[in-house]
Amino acid sequence: MLAIAVLAAGKGTRMKSQLPKVLQPLAGATLIERVLASCTSLQPQRKLLIVGHQAERVRESLAAIDGLEFVLQQPQKGTGHALQQLLTPLEGFQGNLLVLNGDVPLLRPETLERLLERHTSSGAAVTLLTARLPDPSGYGRVVVDASGAVTAIVEHRDCSPAELEISLINAGIYCFNWPQLAEVLPQLSADNDQGELYLTDTVAMLSSAVHLEVSDASEIGGINDRIQLANCEAALQERLRNYWMAQGVTFIDPASCTLSDGTSFGSDVVVEPQCHFRGQTRVGDGCRIGPGCLLVDAELGDQVEAVYAVIREAKVAAGCAIGPYAHLRPGADLSADCRVGNFVEIKKSLVGAGSKVNHLSYIGDATVGAGVNIGAGTITANYDGVNKHRTAIGAGSKTGANSVLVAPLTIGANVTIGAGSCITKDVPDGALALGRSRQLIKENWRGPLPQTNAKPDPVNPA
Ligand code: UD1
Ligand code: MG
Repeated sequence: MLAIAVLAAGKGTRMKSQLPKVLQPLAGATLIERVLASCTSLQPQRKLLIVGHQAERVRESLAAIDGLEFVLQQPQKGTGHALQQLLTPLEGFQGNLLVLNGDVPLLRPETLERLLERHTSSGAAVTLLTARLPDPSGYGRVVVDASGAVTAIVEHRDCSPAELEISLINAGIYCFNWPQLAEVLPQLSADNDQGELYLTDTVAMLSSAVHLEVSDASEIGGINDRIQLANCEAALQERLRNYWMAQGVTFIDPASCTLSDGTSFGSDVVVEPQCHFRGQTRVGDGCRIGPGCLLVDAELGDQVEAVYAVIREAKVAAGCAIGPYAHLRPGADLSADCRVGNFVEIKKSLVGAGSKVNHLSYIGDATVGAGVNIGAGTITANYDGVNKHRTAIGAGSKTGANSVLVAPLTIGANVTIGAGSCITKDVPDGALALGRSRQLIKENWRGPLPQTNAKPDPVNPA
């Protein structure tokens, strides 16, 4: 039997933020979401979350996760006091309790599995996760005896000069035999520098304690301030990039790119410098992305190229080329082999296969057929100040440079729109539409002459 308790009641004073610490985001997910995700593979019978500071906000943020039991700790008098709140909800529970710190978000599920194995095989009352850090400042130091058993954990601020030299630190992750922990929890005292009840003090009170040292210390990085938040973000980003490089993605300058957990890549993708992938972004086989792209919840087919582009909640089918300097906004849906060029914005529009929107255009709320050529500077005027209206452009049509298409508007197939037109009426298939003032030619016309008795100018009278 396994129960999990996550400590998430603290304020996170050192973050200096309005947001509770466990709700700080890391690569698109909150700290607490990451901690909870790290232990789902263990399939615990109970999942208890100890909340206190801004408890309601923390609870709301996790509303979508099933089977969480929220336990209120009010006021927050330390990590030992937090665990004391479980004495009632876990009364009579006979199994192990895995305790996770809500601010230690980079743990790998395999590490927790190994911790549980170690705990079961050793038969100890508690098994804790430790690491050796070149700079152990801030962490509790783990004191071990000659046999390697843990005798005590001393918090940094309570350490003697000799204890400060210990490099083995407490990661804040423990597997306890719950009935034995429940017996000692009421005996904790606040006799320390912070005047709090420390969970770490139970280690010396329990019959036996062992530890498991992690090989990758980046896993146990705790987040107490913004510098540690940035360090964990960097570690997580490196982990994500390394994973995808192992899957066959090329990063030209890995450190300049960031990923989300939800991003996935096909094979033989090349990511140029300064590219950022967020949310649930999918990149197909053989794509070449960047330099300088931001993709958020974007879906790219195979062999897509994008350069200096922003693609958000948009779909781009196979073989399209996007950018430089293109902006695909929510609902842009490009069929295969389209070309979207510089300073083009497309929103909530379907664009048919092989169509081109090459320069300086805004296409919004439109349905564009296949093989359409949208001329430079073509704009769909979709907004009347109150409502948005749709524009339809049939297959094979061409819009001349600087056309304004005033929606609602239906342009048929194989239509040609003359350059500089303002089109307000529907155009049938195969037609040429011109909506511009006629050009005037004044033959042999001369402008005003510099004489004082010059004849008046017939075109621009004074
Ligand atoms: C704790 C450990 C320290 C360890 C470090 C690892 C103790 C006394 N110290 O220190 O040995 O090296 O984690 O990161 O446990 N919390 C509550 N209620 C409270 C106080 C805290 O739920 O009353 C929660 C916090 O929200 C946080 C976690 O417990 O998620 C740890 O608290 P924090 O104050 O960050 O402890 P550290 O000083 O980091
Ligand atoms: Mg901490």
